[in-house]
Amino acid sequence: MSNKVIIKKKITKFKKVIKVSGDKSLSIRWVLFSSLGSGISKAKNLLISEDVLAAIEIIKKLGIKVKLRNNICEIYGKGVNGYIYKKNLKLNAKNSGTLGRLLLGLLIDSPYPIKIIGDESLSQRDFKRVSDPLSRFGANFKLSRKKYLPLTITGSNKLKPINYFEKKGSAQCKSAAIFGGLKTNGTTIIKAKKSRNHTELLCKYLNLPIKVLKKKNYDLIKVNKMKNIKKLNYNIPSDISSSAFFLVLTALNRSCELIIKNVNVNPSRIGIITILRKMGVKIIFKNQKIYKGEKIADIKIVSPKFLKPINCPPKLNTGAIDEFLLIFLVAAKAKGVSYFKDLAELNHKESPRLKWGEKILNKIGIKTITNSNSIKIFGNPKIQCKNKIIIKNYFKDHRVFMTSIIAALSFGGEWIIHDRDSINTSFPNFLKIIHNLKKNV
Ligand code: S3P
Repeated sequence: MSNKVIIKKKITKFKKVIKVSGDKSLSIRWVLFSSLGSGISKAKNLLISEDVLAAIEIIKKLGIKVKLRNNICEIYGKGVNGYIYKKNLKLNAKNSGTLGRLLLGLLIDSPYPIKIIGDESLSQRDFKRVSDPLSRFGANFKLSRKKYLPLTITGSNKLKPINYFEKKGSAQCKSAAIFGGLKTNGTTIIKAKKSRNHTELLCKYLNLPIKVLKKKNYDLIKVNKMKNIKKLNYNIPSDISSSAFFLVLTALNRSCELIIKNVNVNPSRIGIITILRKMGVKIIFKNQKIYKGEKIADIKIVSPKFLKPINCPPKLNTGAIDEFLLIFLVAAKAKGVSYFKDLAELNHKESPRLKWGEKILNKIGIKTITNSNSIKIFGNPKIQCKNKIIIKNYFKDHRVFMTSIIAALSFGGEWIIHDRDSINTSFPNFLKIIHNLKKNV
């Protein structure tokens, strides 16, 4: 099969009920927590994508047995000290920042050096942001070019708790430090700018020694050494970040209606919903429930008659951090100028996404003013592409690929989008769902 997708026609109206795959953040965390559990943990609806398979490969290399059938997975944990550390161990986090960074927190007591590698995109991403706090526990790091992979971590058996201020709003940094704290005697104190809180919720569900004090602008998290993790059976809800592609497809087209079933709508993840609502899109949650601390709902969205521009409050940034490429498309069709600021973190993702957001908008004829942390988008409700648009050389960033598909189906023109296999990292089913929406009514 060719590795590029050609789109020459806009999508026609659809009215559908769909289901997207399991939440990536929760799938990776489930693998890591279960690998330290006592007994057999079972997940249903685990996301089967390269990022999650990389997590499974890594725990297998650490001596943990795993059985996987379709999207049902069993992990045979051997307790919090159950990893087998072989000499010259090399672990490959592939494309996954979440896996590479969270894992380091679990390895701070390894008796031997462990080499961590990743793919080309992950090897361009900052690992000093996690090695800095984790080295203060007593682990030792050797990074390539001062902050990149490959890195070597050597643990310590004399770990000391730390006080750590996480200022970026990075759930990966916060979670790595929580894992470090769970491995260390004494109380680790983390003051963390608000970010997704799946790690904390799982710790709470598992009765691990962690306390979270919610302040207005940050959380204060106190962590003590864990003694035991019970087995973790988990029914993984669908991913809001994967749902976002279809929410935006509906928002950008006329007379469409969509219900997405059983999505994780954890309040720390629904920035995209808040932003779309502010831009005039009607979205409602149905069948809401709480599952193991996570809020779940069916999401119903109806195409709006017109879109309003937004001056996006930066406090919404962390809750929408993976969705900005899509949000920029919505701003491109709004009537007026939208403004997004304090977004430097976007250029630290699988590709420099603020730059790619600008590139895609410029290719479709939308004027932007961008600097290293903000973008102004001059929307055009009548936007209609006629030219040929080629999307390539984007570090195989899955979200650039999928956003381009949504733009092609919504704005017209002739699109040639390279590297379709990029979707395998987070959402292998993406194109199947698109085809299903095209077979409308
Ligand atoms: C994630 C946290 C976010 C997000 C990533 C998944 C997580 O990264 O972009 O896709 O599961 O913790 P940062 O913590 O770097 O913001």
